[in-house]
Amino acid sequence: MCGIIGYTGSREAQPLLLEGLHRLEYRGYDSSGLATLSDGDLHLRKRAGRIQDLARHLHQNAAPGTTGISHTRWATHGPANDRNAHPHVSGDNRIAVVHNGVIENYAPLKRQLAGEGVVFHSDTDTEVVAQLIARRLPAEDSSQAAFIDAVARTLALLKGTYGLAVLSRRHPGLLLGARLGSPLVLGIGEGENFLASDPSALVGKTERVVYLQDHQMCVLTANDWHLLDGDRARVEAAVHTIEWDASDTDKGAFDHYMLKEIYEQPEAIENALRGRLVDSDATSHFGGLNLDTQQLRRAERIILTACGTSYHAALVGEYLFEEFARIPVEVEYASEFRYRNPPIDRNTIVIAVTQSGETADTLAALRESKRKGHPTLALCNVVGSSIARETDGGVYLHAGPEVGVASTKAFTNQVAVLAMLALYFGRMRHLSSLQGAQIIRELRAIPDAVRRALSCHDAVRAIAERYCHVANFLYLGRQYNYPVALEGALKLKEISYIHAEGYPAAEMKHGPIALVDKNTPSVFLLPRGAIFDKVMSNLEEVKARGGPIIAIAHEGDEDVAARADEVICVPDVPEYLQPIVSVVPLQLLAYHIALLRGCDVDKPRNLAKSVTVE
Ligand code: AGP
Repeated sequence: MCGIIGYTGSREAQPLLLEGLHRLEYRGYDSSGLATLSDGDLHLRKRAGRIQDLARHLHQNAAPGTTGISHTRWATHGPANDRNAHPHVSGDNRIAVVHNGVIENYAPLKRQLAGEGVVFHSDTDTEVVAQLIARRLPAEDSSQAAFIDAVARTLALLKGTYGLAVLSRRHPGLLLGARLGSPLVLGIGEGENFLASDPSALVGKTERVVYLQDHQMCVLTANDWHLLDGDRARVEAAVHTIEWDASDTDKGAFDHYMLKEIYEQPEAIENALRGRLVDSDATSHFGGLNLDTQQLRRAERIILTACGTSYHAALVGEYLFEEFARIPVEVEYASEFRYRNPPIDRNTIVIAVTQSGETADTLAALRESKRKGHPTLALCNVVGSSIARETDGGVYLHAGPEVGVASTKAFTNQVAVLAMLALYFGRMRHLSSLQGAQIIRELRAIPDAVRRALSCHDAVRAIAERYCHVANFLYLGRQYNYPVALEGALKLKEISYIHAEGYPAAEMKHGPIALVDKNTPSVFLLPRGAIFDKVMSNLEEVKARGGPIIAIAHEGDEDVAARADEVICVPDVPEYLQPIVSVVPLQLLAYHIALLRGCDVDKPRNLAKSVTVE
C-alpha cells in the first residue's frame, strides 16, 4: 500500500523524506515523489519506478525547503508512471497532496470540475482532492484557518478512504493531515514534526507518536501540533512511544528482510510466550483481553477472521480451539465475512488475526462484528494500529517489525498465540491442570525446535536449485498441516510467481490429481501424526502417476525417505505445534526458488505489505 511521509521543521526536508520513503519501501509501490515548500514556491519531484530513480532525479534537481510531503504509490487508479505518481498539485500550483486510500466518488467530482474548466494531468483520484482544496482556498486569505477550512470542506465531499498530507504554497511551514480509513500517525520531534502512514517510517527520527483517528485532521508546524475532530474542535490525544529502534528494521547480516525474519522466528516466539505462561495455574495469561471472565466462559462459538497468511494461521487456530477448548470455531475470509450477514448468536466472540493491524477487509469485518454487538479480540503485531485500537481487547504478537512483504515470523507467532489462547479458554472449561502443564512444557520447547528446523537450510537450497524452473507446485497436508500446505503454496506464489496450490491431501482424488505429472512436484507435509498412514497413501497415489515428491518429515523417518524424491527433516513436536515447525522449510524453499528466479524477495511485484484498500 501507499506510504506517506511529511516533515516540517528547521532541517532540509528532502533527505528526511527520502530516508522515510526507504523505510516504507517494504510496503510495496510502483512510483514515488515529493513536494517541498521554499520561498513561496512548491517544488515537485516524482518518478515511476524505485526510490533510487527518484533519488537520481533529485540529485540533478534538488527540492529545497524545510517543509515537505512525500509518497510511495501502489497504483489503484491509473498506471504506474511519472504523471500518476504523487504528490498531485492543483492547477494553480498552490496545493500539493499525497494520499493513501481510495476516493470512491472521484469520478463524478472530476467530471464536475472538468465541466467548470479544470484541466487534469493524471488519471488519479488524488488529483481531484488537490483541485477541490485549491478551489476552496480564498485567493487573498493566507490564514491557517482558511487553509484548514478549505481542506475540511473538501473532505466533506469525499466518499471512500484517505490518509492525506497537504501543503499550501501560501502557508509556509504548515502541514495538514487527515484520516479516514487509512492510517496516519504524527511524529513529535524537537523543533520539528512528522506525518507518516506507518510508524516504522519514523524510526530514527522520533519515538513519540500520536495516532490519528478516523475523521480527525492534524495541524503541524515546526514547534506546534494539534488535532481537530470532524467538527474542527481541538481534541486531546495520547502521545505513545515506539518501542522499536533503527536496528529492528535493518537487514543486519542478512541479504533480505524475509530471510532475517525467518531466522528471527525462534526469538520472536520466545517474545510471544514471555510472561504469558502461568505454571502455578497451568494456563496462559494475557494482559489485554479486556473481556470479563463470564463473557469468555459464555462463549459458545468463535469466529476467526483474517486475510492471506493470517487466514492460514487462523485455520490452525480452528483446530487448536476445537481440540483444547471444545469450542466450535469458524474461520472466515474477512473480505467475505464483512459483506455476509450470517446469523451469529450473542455468545460469539469474533477474533481478528492480523500482522499489520491495518488490513482494510479485516478492519471492516471487525467493525461489522462490533456493530452487531459481538465481543471482539485481535491478534496483532503493530502496537497502536487501527485494528489493535478498535477491538475490545487483544494480544500483541511481539514478533517485532515484519518488513518483508511475505509474512513469516508473524505466522508462527500467530500460531503460538492462538495455542496459548486455546489453552486459556480450555483451562476455563475442561482441560486439567496436568494437561495444561504439559501444553506449557511443549510450548516452551518450540523456539528451540524452530532453531533445529532452520538447520534444513542447505538441504532446502539444494532442492530449490532442482525445482526452480517448474511452472506448477502442489502442497498437500492434512489436519494441522493442511493450513501449512496453503501457507507454503502462498509463500511460493507471492515471491517466485510460480503457480502453487495447497490442498487437503485426501482432496487430491477429487480432481487435482489430474494435475500430477513429472513436471509438477508435490510437497507433502508428512510429520508423524494420527493420520500419517493416510497421507502416505496420498503420497503413493501421486508417486504412481510419476509426480515428483518433496516431503517434509520427521528427522530419521526412513519410510518417507524411501518413498519421496526429496526429504526435508524437521524436529518431532506434538501434532498441534507442527505448523510452527513444518512451515520453516516451506518459507526457505519459497525464498530460495524466488532468488534463483531473480525475483525481488522483499518487494514482490503487485504486492503490498499491508493491504489498506479493499
Ligand atoms: C502474506 O505473506 C501476505 N503478505 C499477505 O497475504 C498478508 O498475510 C495479508 O495481506 C494479511 O495481512 P495482515 O496480517 O497484516 O492483516
